[in-house]
Amino acid sequence: MTPSIAIIGGTGLTALDTLKITYRETLSTPYGEPSSPVIRGELGGRAVAFLARHGPRHTLPPHKINYRANLWALHRIGVKQVIAVAAVGGIRGDMAPGVLAFPDQLVDYTWGRHCTFFEDNLSHVTHVDFTEPYCGELRERLIQAARALNLDARESCTYAAAQGPRLETAAEIRRMERDGCDIVGMTGMPEAALARELDLCYAACAVVANRAAGKVPGAITMAEIERNLIEGMGKVKTLLARAVPLLGEVASR
Ligand code: HPA
Repeated sequence: MTPSIAIIGGTGLTALDTLKITYRETLSTPYGEPSSPVIRGELGGRAVAFLARHGPRHTLPPHKINYRANLWALHRIGVKQVIAVAAVGGIRGDMAPGVLAFPDQLVDYTWGRHCTFFEDNLSHVTHVDFTEPYCGELRERLIQAARALNLDARESCTYAAAQGPRLETAAEIRRMERDGCDIVGMTGMPEAALARELDLCYAACAVVANRAAGKVPGAITMAEIERNLIEGMGKVKTLLARAVPLLGEVASR
């Protein structure tokens, strides 16, 4: 079966043990190697592809990820819908560690990443519409599943895509807050824009791993992030098992 659904796993989700694996595929693309082999399998009765964004052993930092190769590979095997799982810091007061969030907007603070498929050998310059950066229909299904499971989830929020790999300063977080951002992560862009360029339906499921810099006294530790992600990713797996069967053959976005 050709999977029309893909899950991109982020920090804390380098493997999806709920997926009944059929095979692993190492793909090459005109943009280079994807972060990891594409794992094909079955989840909730549907064919699903899984890709580990930071590599199978979590060795690729956010600015080194080959986002173009990842999205291209998924598109090439016939994927139409992409659920992007990502760890984030919570900026808004109700974005406590462990909460799931389904952003409906984003602000891009990243730089120096390959951010488009439309740059070489063009017959004309292309600007895709990005007014609504996430696929409304796919977001709605994720939200429905979260409601049905009674998960502590935020249904509307703005994602700040930070450059990383360092965490932000307190002043950077204040600036993001003034810009209207509610959560901050490092991998949401250019991933979302590249998905749009390929006409893929793309939605994010963010897991709050920590309060963003300056929101609570003291430093943010990796131990804290990892601890919160263990619990958070457990919720994500439950959510995915519920959401995937709800996904129809949605329109391209
Ligand atoms: N900032 C950026 N990315 C993150 C954070 C954060 O605080 N936590 C997890 N990913």
